[in-house]
Amino acid sequence: MSSAYHHLFVCNSQKDEIGKDVARALKTEIKKQGLKALLTGGAKRKTRVQTCNCLDVCKHCKKGPGAALIVYPEGTLYGDVKPKDAAEIVQEHLLAGRVVKRLLLD
Ligand code: FES
Repeated sequence: MSSAYHHLFVCNSQKDEIGKDVARALKTEIKKQGLKALLTGGAKRKTRVQTCNCLDVCKHCKKGPGAALIVYPEGTLYGDVKPKDAAEIVQEHLLAGRVVKRLLLD
């Protein structure tokens, strides 16, 4: 079962501002997939997405063209996330409560 609230922070310390694009894509997907209207255990879900400064996993930011992001309350760190990955993160992690293994940082 997935958590009733999620807070996502997307690293924005990137040269090409990919973090902003990823955050925007996540917000769009959250709306599209109807997360705002869903209930978990009788309570409305809360999901917040925001950009932030360096998450201290820079080598992953540098490795690929995508951004690093962290999902709370789980504290799951994803790396090299691109806007096209937003749909999968919303559907798998936020809705189904399953980590997206291919984006996971070790
Ligand atoms: S620059 Fe993205 S985690 Fe440090």
